[in-house]
Amino acid sequence: MTVHFIGAGPGAPDLLTLRGRNIIASCPVCLYAGSLVPKAVLEHCPDGAKIVNTAPMDLDAIIEEIKAADAQGFDIARLHSGDLSVWSAMGEQLRRLKAEGIPFTVTPGVPSFSAAAAALGAELTLPGVAQSVVLTRTSGRASSMPDGESLENFGRTGATLAIHLSVGNMAKVVSELTPHYGADCPVAIVFRASWPDERIIHATLETIEAALEPDITRTALILVGPALKAEGFAESCLYSPDYDRRYRPQTADSPWSEWTEGDD
Ligand SMILES: C[S@@+](CC[C@H](N)C(=O)[O-])C[C@H]1O[C@@H](n2cnc3c(N)ncnc32)[C@H](O)[C@@H]1O
Repeated sequence: MTVHFIGAGPGAPDLLTLRGRNIIASCPVCLYAGSLVPKAVLEHCPDGAKIVNTAPMDLDAIIEEIKAADAQGFDIARLHSGDLSVWSAMGEQLRRLKAEGIPFTVTPGVPSFSAAAAALGAELTLPGVAQSVVLTRTSGRASSMPDGESLENFGRTGATLAIHLSVGNMAKVVSELTPHYGADCPVAIVFRASWPDERIIHATLETIEAALEPDITRTALILVGPALKAEGFAESCLYSPDYDRRYRPQTADSPWSEWTEGDD
């Protein structure tokens, strides 16, 4: 028996990896985080599968459910939204499974920040504008932020920020970032990226509070940074015609001219 943790993606049922879909289809038990994983993803479960929404359960109850399946020798598909590496609560479940000696696997998923960038048709790292993306959040009722991980500190870098779990904290986002990015810095809010009712709001740090639609209170990502609207950015060297590189040596003297596929 194995518990298969699967990143279920941002919402659209076809934004799931083939591996994730195949595992879901092979498991007689599926536990899913129903607050964010849409029912459409569950259509990949086999007929007769036991499907449990863990949104109303606490950690002990989830582990009991897993132990019950373990006792019967049933594999479990454990679904969390987006990717499992960020804000999935997988860490605490893995710690319990290790203590119980229950085997597990982890299958990555499409994170919501990628789905939001795709919805915007935006590259978040543009040459000379931003070369880093910070995945962060503001503190919430249940989670404080570790010292040092403040928006002000991240804002000092000028990187593109992908701020999760924070659409209800817009005033704080604006007040802490405006001194670093300026009031005219572009902001985009993507609500339910990849869902049928996806919505996008384009604004600036100055205008975003007024532009935010009042019914958008969760499942939204805030993207902030000059890369969101940059026009005059430099082209990368990657496709520059005279850039000497491994895959396109420019002269016979190029250090790359001796290179053949398989060397690296
Ligand atoms: C508990 S976190 C889960 C993050 C997830 N593990 C991931 O990889 O994106 C939930 C937050 O992720 C963001 N989020 C998740 N799905 C989203 C979507 N489809 N569109 C926009 N934001 C989303 C929102 O900021 C939401 O408050």
